[in-house]
Amino acid sequence: MDRIRIRGGKPLSGNIPIGGAKNATLPLMAAGLLSDGPLTLENAPDLADIATMRALLVQHGMKVEHDKAQRRLVLSGAAENLEAPYDLVRKMRASVLVMGPLVARFGEARVSLPGGCAIGTRPVDLHIKGLEQMGAVFDLEGGYMHAKAPGGLRGATIIFPQVSVGATENLLMAATLAEGTTELVNAAREPEIGDLAMCLMRMGARIEGIGTDRLVVEGVKRLGAATHPIIPDRIEAGTYACAAAITGGTVLLEGARMVDLGAVVRTLRECGVDVAEETEGLRITRKNGLRGADVMTEPFPGFATDMQAQFMALMCVAEGASMITETIFENRFMHVPELTRMGARIKYHGQSAIVRGVPKLSGAPVMATDLRASVSLVLAGLAAQGETIVNRVYHLDRGYESLERKLSAVGAEIERV
Ligand code: EPZ
Repeated sequence: MDRIRIRGGKPLSGNIPIGGAKNATLPLMAAGLLSDGPLTLENAPDLADIATMRALLVQHGMKVEHDKAQRRLVLSGAAENLEAPYDLVRKMRASVLVMGPLVARFGEARVSLPGGCAIGTRPVDLHIKGLEQMGAVFDLEGGYMHAKAPGGLRGATIIFPQVSVGATENLLMAATLAEGTTELVNAAREPEIGDLAMCLMRMGARIEGIGTDRLVVEGVKRLGAATHPIIPDRIEAGTYACAAAITGGTVLLEGARMVDLGAVVRTLRECGVDVAEETEGLRITRKNGLRGADVMTEPFPGFATDMQAQFMALMCVAEGASMITETIFENRFMHVPELTRMGARIKYHGQSAIVRGVPKLSGAPVMATDLRASVSLVLAGLAAQGETIVNRVYHLDRGYESLERKLSAVGAEIERV
């Protein structure tokens, strides 16, 4: 099995190109089910999760071409098989995003329940309740959610009791083809949702309130072909910003946008990291020592839970103490014991962790159970004395394209072995 070997201590310097956002691309691909297309997605990343979503759509009966050289995905055709099987859904929870589009367009979907996940229980009750409010009838049998709406979905006012990115996306897609008006209240405002809404509008959907927590969708009879550029990956950008900061380097994140990274940028600045917006992207520079800072994860525009592990790695070598509180997922501190093995001083209780900065981390063999936890160990390895081996690299391949190539191009000593 592949591993990543890092020899730490090299300040990074140079440019890192930021790819299209994984968490925007997955729902955009599911949106392809809403029309015969073609739907052309530009700036598509080449990641394991994208390949999984492609396999899912292909088994539904769609044609999905991924031109990796051109960074383009072209989706066309219609679903014939309305079942999303367990084998694919258990590999990637975002598979449940096919449910809204399938029920809206074909009046039926049978989607495996995703089951538990390393970072939390992650139920999908909000997706189900919302579709029920729009007239779908659900049957839970054999581990599958079987939804039926033979006469089509109808508009409804859906008030989310809790902010959910996936439920907002699923219901937004479903609402585009429902009869009448759907109002999504307390909707998630992540940039990936704005991107999905923009793409749906290009396909002919009628949506108001993009970027706010109240989306109003006027259903249309059908959606058509469109070409849509995927937004840059703010989490990939934030991760490499932490890489520049933890090594005391200077890096230009090509294509990264300040609007997507507000809370992360504010926090980095508080820690003593310079962030400047340039025409080609964001420049991250750290010349002096790092100071500790407190963060709490929140739905957008708050500090992203997908940046929590990376920020914790950074705080391991900052001066003073930092309190990190995770409010989105109940089990998202699995990087803590691994960082501790590298010499970090972290204590956590419940949803909060106290990190007391140390002058140096030391390299060690480590492994993690999810994508962002794994990359936090890569960051720690970049700053550590000696050699770090990160095991279970397949987690990284789900969300970071050419990680070791991008980092070695800016001076890191990192390789896949
Ligand atoms: C998305 O997951 C992202 N995934 C996650 O990124 C990200 O961590 C998360 O949003 C939060 O920002 C994709 O976009 C593909 P949620 P999602 O529904 O949509 C609870 C990564 O590393 N909830 O916003 O599944 C849920 O348990 C990944 O790239 C319910 O209770 O997240 C969680 O506590 C990991 N019932 C909270 O809401 C529901 O029906 C937020 O989850 C749905 C969610």
